[in-house]
Amino acid sequence: MSQNTNKIMAWIDDRLPVTQTYEKHMSKYYAPKNFNFWYFFGVLSMLMLVNQILTGIWLTMQFTPSAEAAFASVEYIMRDVEWGWLIRYMHSTGATFFFVAVYLHMMRAILYGSYQKPRELIWIFGMLIYLALMAEAFMGYVLPWGQMSYWGAQVIISLFSVMPYGDLLTEWIRGDFLISGATLNRFFALHVVAVPLVIGLLLSLLCTCWRCTK
Ligand code: HEM
Repeated sequence: MSQNTNKIMAWIDDRLPVTQTYEKHMSKYYAPKNFNFWYFFGVLSMLMLVNQILTGIWLTMQFTPSAEAAFASVEYIMRDVEWGWLIRYMHSTGATFFFVAVYLHMMRAILYGSYQKPRELIWIFGMLIYLALMAEAFMGYVLPWGQMSYWGAQVIISLFSVMPYGDLLTEWIRGDFLISGATLNRFFALHVVAVPLVIGLLLSLLCTCWRCTK
């Protein structure tokens, strides 16, 4: 049995270096001695991202992204879907803890000067991820389509109206003259597909930079 497994693994390794990559980055990777508690939050942020994606996929199975049905579908998730309440709370509370982890991670980077040469680009990619994350969380908050969602959207979108061409810009963001089903639909598409893809891309760029500095 184990011989067969070894053979299969060797066959895969010849074509895709799974074992080599695992050893290089995990099992045989020498961590610097000065790692301490404050270095936990990078991997914890990663864990929170995985939590958001997994619970998000399960929520998407039951959520209805329309102005008429969104609120009721969230009630349905909370009351009728098996463990739906847990999945939803893992997603909404998970979003909060994601930010807690990210802020502690950023604080560590500032305290230890991790943004300095040759790690400047890592810091810049991290800041871009942070921006994308704020947009992602904001659009998620609008999805349940309750009063808080509606007025939250009203406040945040209005911030853009102080910029040049503000009226045009806010109309473009909403996809309508006021917050409507069109806004909810586009926020759903952005929240579930577009922004997670952007975050994933930025994260892989950040990790590539990070590997280069070691
Ligand atoms: C970067 C990670 C993410 C963050 C920070 C985030 C944040 C949020 C927040 C704050 C809400 C509102 C929760 C509520 O009050 O009910 C929400 C809702 C939602 N999210 Fe996400 N989300 C993330 C990723 C995803 C992904 C990847 C998917 C889908 C694949 C997804 C699907 C949904 C759905 C369907 C809802 C509406 C249901 C509900 O409101 O409970 N999310 N998200």
